[in-house]
Amino acid sequence: MKRTHTCNQLTSADADQEVTLTGWVQSVRDHGGVLFVDLRDREGMTQVVFHPDYADIHEAAGKLKDESVILISGIVKPREAGTINPKMTTGEIEVSARTLKVENMAETLPFPLEDSKADKVNEDLRLQYRYLDLRRERMRKLLKLRSDANKSIRDTLAEEGFLEVETPMLFKSTPEGAREFLVPSRLNPGDFYALSQSPQQYKQMLMVAGVERYYSMARCFRDEDLRADRQPEFTQVDLEMSFIDREDMYALIEKVLSNLWKDVMNVDVPTPFPRMTYKDAMNRYGVDKPDTRFDIELTDLSAIFKDTGFKVFKSVLSSGGVVKAINAKGLGDISQGEVKAMEDVAKTMGAKGLAYIVVRGDDPADWRSPLLKFFSAEELAAMREQMGIEDGDLILFAAADWEKACTILGRIRLECAQLLVKREKLTISGDQYNFLWVVDFPLMIFDEDAGRYVAAHHPFTAPHPDDLDKLDTDTRNCRSQAYDIVLNGSEIGGGSIRIHQPELQDRVFKNVLGLPTETVDELFGYMLKAFKFGAPPHGGLALGFDRLCAVMGKTKSIRDVIAFPKTQKGQDMMTAAPGPVTPRQLRDLHIGVIAPVEEKE
Ligand code: AMO
Ligand code: AMP
Repeated sequence: MKRTHTCNQLTSADADQEVTLTGWVQSVRDHGGVLFVDLRDREGMTQVVFHPDYADIHEAAGKLKDESVILISGIVKPREAGTINPKMTTGEIEVSARTLKVENMAETLPFPLEDSKADKVNEDLRLQYRYLDLRRERMRKLLKLRSDANKSIRDTLAEEGFLEVETPMLFKSTPEGAREFLVPSRLNPGDFYALSQSPQQYKQMLMVAGVERYYSMARCFRDEDLRADRQPEFTQVDLEMSFIDREDMYALIEKVLSNLWKDVMNVDVPTPFPRMTYKDAMNRYGVDKPDTRFDIELTDLSAIFKDTGFKVFKSVLSSGGVVKAINAKGLGDISQGEVKAMEDVAKTMGAKGLAYIVVRGDDPADWRSPLLKFFSAEELAAMREQMGIEDGDLILFAAADWEKACTILGRIRLECAQLLVKREKLTISGDQYNFLWVVDFPLMIFDEDAGRYVAAHHPFTAPHPDDLDKLDTDTRNCRSQAYDIVLNGSEIGGGSIRIHQPELQDRVFKNVLGLPTETVDELFGYMLKAFKFGAPPHGGLALGFDRLCAVMGKTKSIRDVIAFPKTQKGQDMMTAAPGPVTPRQLRDLHIGVIAPVEEKE
């Protein structure tokens, strides 16, 4: 019954041996009566030959359908010269079959499993038949990569003295985070758990408990609108350490990630990673997770236009805003349609417009732009100098408040890069790994809808030691001790040094976030109390494990590195979750369902 070898093992050294192999029929080819079956298992592929001399099994092999599961035994034979396949581990041999057992005959598949074809199949169909999709070589490799990555991270953290501790998934509902999934409590009618968004509070309690170094591969749940890099349940490499400062955390994560790259991909990544403040990242790249593999940067032109006659810029500047621009070198051949599409993107981000100059030759009279008539010769000359404007460039402007102008151009910068890549004027290599620490984030951001400050990271983040006096007087400009680790434009992790003094934590909850005393007592009282019984200074970070695997696996969607992911609508196509439950189940949980109100046309 048992196989003697995997399908990726046999070489000419095994010639004449009798072997048993099991696996899936990748394909059956008929070469003038002799049947060639590519037999595949998790490890690889072996060619099995059914000769007409063995009439019984030859006939049975002729009826095999692709992806059937078989067990064969046979004799290892060296392949004839000219039929050797040097690209396959088993390319020197074939197995001449003597017995065949069909374990399971497959029906016709809903889609082909060759990567080149399956990658073009509708993803919902692939997810419905995920067990077939995962048989593909590309998906199999991604599963293996994730497993290898998991082991590497665990090895490093064990070496560094971390304890792996599991924390509850059934947590309580707390404000100040993403939207939660609620779970009714049958034993406590009317009460709910929330599925843990992250083990944040538990890991801080573990520090008070004296664990000193904690980690877990934590499953986290967030009821957010989904995108290519977001799933409602995802995995964090979650960790926390006592008696550390930011430098210790940077060094640890640099070790974890450089070991990971070495173990999984045999790539050396240089450490320490570069660092950039949040302010610089926004000013130069228009985003807090810059892709630094290409160097189109934002420029601030406010000083040049301070006395401009161009009304649009003038009114923005006089109300405290900024005029920023990017120079997309070599994109001067942009079409009207492409400019229009870019302007539409800018408008979805709240831009009033996207002024541009297409630079043609040296004389501004030849440039193409709706703006030239508004700019003075001095403004043009100053701009030219500051931005290094040359023939063939494309200049794009955003005039708005600082943050908006930055984020609009940050997005437009990526659009420009894509257009340059399409024109083969820019290469952005998937083999280049630009790790970057983004540091000195603001502690709080003002939430216009709520009319109050909310924590930029989470409310347990410590203020920057130099900005403590700004905490309640100049909140907007108070920096935090939060840090993000960014890789090629993707935020792969974030964390902070925490508050460990009960008085300071209480002040943040009440004075800065404006939470009522009862709410603080009810939701965070246990934490404030714990901090009164000997809380060590501590800090931590969580790596987004799915995102990390997606970058290593060179795939855009984190769904590709999750065995059973959810769709954009949060559905599991294979099991059809979420689904309705019986009235009886609802009654047991003391729950009534209110049908959604139909939207009026
Ligand atoms: P944060 O909310 O920044 O921090 O999450 C840490 C990292 O998790 C990843 N991530 C996600 N990945 C996939 N799908 C999602 N919906 C999703 N949301 C987040 C990101 C992110 O950088 N408790 C803090 C960490 C700490 O302070 O120690 C936390 O959860 O890569
Ligand atoms: P208008 O005078 O409104 O027709 O604008 C002239 C040009 O400036 C057009 O190309 C607009 O897209 C552009 N524009 C308008 N408002 C802004 C702004 N806030 N930032 C950048 N460009 C703008």
